[in-house]
Amino acid sequence: MQEFLTIVSLRESLAKIRRADKKIALVPTMGNLHAGHLTLVKQAQEIADAVVVSIFVNPTQFVEGEDFDSYPRTLEADLEYLKQINTDLVFIPDMKEIYPENIQITTEVIVPELDSVYCGEYRPGHFKGVATIVTTLFNIVQPDIAIFGEKDYQQLLVIRSLVKNLNLPIHIMGSPTLRESDGLAMSSRNKYLSETERLQAPLLYKSIKKMATSIEKGNKDYKSLQKEAFSSLKDAGFKPEYLNICDSKTLKKPINQELVILAAAWLGKARLIDNVAVQSYD
Ligand code: PAF
Repeated sequence: MQEFLTIVSLRESLAKIRRADKKIALVPTMGNLHAGHLTLVKQAQEIADAVVVSIFVNPTQFVEGEDFDSYPRTLEADLEYLKQINTDLVFIPDMKEIYPENIQITTEVIVPELDSVYCGEYRPGHFKGVATIVTTLFNIVQPDIAIFGEKDYQQLLVIRSLVKNLNLPIHIMGSPTLRESDGLAMSSRNKYLSETERLQAPLLYKSIKKMATSIEKGNKDYKSLQKEAFSSLKDAGFKPEYLNICDSKTLKKPINQELVILAAAWLGKARLIDNVAVQSYD
């Protein structure tokens, strides 16, 4: 496994790989790797000749007052995991490498509409930060393929949209959410849960699964389904931000049968997000 701290050195190696007509896949991460990330890397290895994993905790996607400073940084363990699964290249830039200019005046990538609903409403500026860093990483690595977890469903749509609008020749793949045995979606932020909260946490997934099952059985009263699930989460001690049934492509009001149920809720110090895709029937 080769580790790169600079854009120049990474590009040198990638140029050789590209000259040999090999396919390059990128798996962008913020580190603190868990089994979910490793699945993304393995998926990338199956479809590409060389896989680049980037590890960079991107400050611009954290909103004021969020956990940028305390976000778990576990570089040594991350590199060990990546080595064990035979990752080819790891890119570990520092702040200056990615943001050589003052962060306040750096060029930004904006994906309108999608960036201001749901997580975008509660974390204003978050998706601008994500779109900007992902575009930057795409320009550095110039991958043929990039893989993202479907747990961050809205992020995946934002990235698909920017790739389409900016005509980037990159195939974006979503990878199904990896879950703990009790259903909780794997996330670096699960570390913020206390022991008792950890036991309660799977209720988020259970609630949206229950909504999905009801929709599959023909229930079209989305408003009542949302209201009911929202209040049962509240009663269980969660602080839900949103829990909505929406169109799976636009995140707007459902107009066809392809739906996604999106949810975000605080449990103690952890902000949990999850989603389930569902098809309605006429
Ligand atoms: O999903 C993440 O970990 C981050 O948002 C990403 C895509 C690596 C950008 O910093």
